[in-house]
Amino acid sequence: MRVLLTGHQGYLGTVMAPVLEAAGHEVVGLDSGLFADCVLGPAPADPPSPGVDLRDVTAEHVAGVDAVIHLAALSNDPLGSLAPELTYDINHHASVRLARLAREAGVRRFLYASTCSVYGAAGGDELVAEDAPLRPVTPYAESKVRVEDDLHALADGDFSPVYMRNATAFGYSPRLRADIVLNNLVGHALLSGEVLVMSDGTPWRPLVHAADIARAFTAALGAPREAVHDRAFNIGSEVNNVTVAEIAEQVAEAVSGSKVVITGETGADPRSYRVDFSRFRDAIPGFDCEWTVKRGALELADAYHKFGLTREDFERRFTRLAVLRAASEAGAVDDTLRWSR
Ligand SMILES: NC(=O)c1ccc[n+]([C@@H]2O[C@H](COP(=O)([O-])OP(=O)(O)OC[C@H]3O[C@@H](n4cnc5c(N)ncnc54)[C@H](O)[C@@H]3O)[C@@H](O)[C@H]2O)c1
Repeated sequence: MRVLLTGHQGYLGTVMAPVLEAAGHEVVGLDSGLFADCVLGPAPADPPSPGVDLRDVTAEHVAGVDAVIHLAALSNDPLGSLAPELTYDINHHASVRLARLAREAGVRRFLYASTCSVYGAAGGDELVAEDAPLRPVTPYAESKVRVEDDLHALADGDFSPVYMRNATAFGYSPRLRADIVLNNLVGHALLSGEVLVMSDGTPWRPLVHAADIARAFTAALGAPREAVHDRAFNIGSEVNNVTVAEIAEQVAEAVSGSKVVITGETGADPRSYRVDFSRFRDAIPGFDCEWTVKRGALELADAYHKFGLTREDFERRFTRLAVLRAASEAGAVDDTLRWSR
């Protein structure tokens, strides 16, 4: 298939593009490149791309495309809270516009990167399945719920949206992120010797490796229409339904000489949920996640060591909010996150 991969220069897109290509697909990217230079290790070979902002997409960008994988977004809770209206403009309105254009152009499948954050403060020890009530607690998560609703209204016999609700990602990507929990804790452990948990460690935080997300999207792309049409799927594995304190323990085991420090304060993030991932396994026989948290912590520690992660990089280059603040202060982007001319 010819696949339009939006967000191909992001943390997940950089891992997903080669996985799609290895599966025989022709990949075309679409990204405004907000984090294009946030590279740790060898520079990735990006697929061709028109370098257009999602808000400026036109029919020509979806012409001749068989399927869209839509990752581009302001893509975590702190980023989304930076400027809620901007989050709704990019994550919601521009996404639905892209889907409409894709549908008009005859694109048959539209895989949407949603998130388990839609369950918000579900709490409790019960596993949350896809039909659980959605309780988004941030503009980011709310934007994902709105897109799912609007894509559902576009679904028909020729156009199949699929809502891939990813758990929180972890693992090495050539375009690294230090602002997601496992990647962050491993970096802290290496740089300071402390696995610093800025809460009481009790919230549940289901995790999934970036490479497993890439495999899941690739599987959904090739699945029979009736298995995925207009359906939501939690993407991850019950094995990786862990509390923040458990994640910290795994990190301390992976980074020798480090010790866990739990501050005990009430965390700023009220999300807590354990997730049931069985629907996707049932829809795609043979699919399962390959990565555990422990293996991911070892992989990250190795990559950080090998590629010489510095404190400066950790706090600035690989933390999305810091990257955007710096770009804004330097006048490189305007207050709508468009590149200044
Ligand atoms: N990483 C996770 O833990 C996680 C978990 C669940 C869901 N997701 C979702 O997966 C998707 C990808 O996440 P990621 O971690 O790779 O995020 P990321 O921030 O690393 O990448 C997002 C990409 O979107 C691009 N982008 C942002 N605004 C744009 C615009 N207006 N026009 C064109 N491109 C634009 C950025 O330049 C960036 O390359 C997002 O939709 C995110 O919400 C991520």
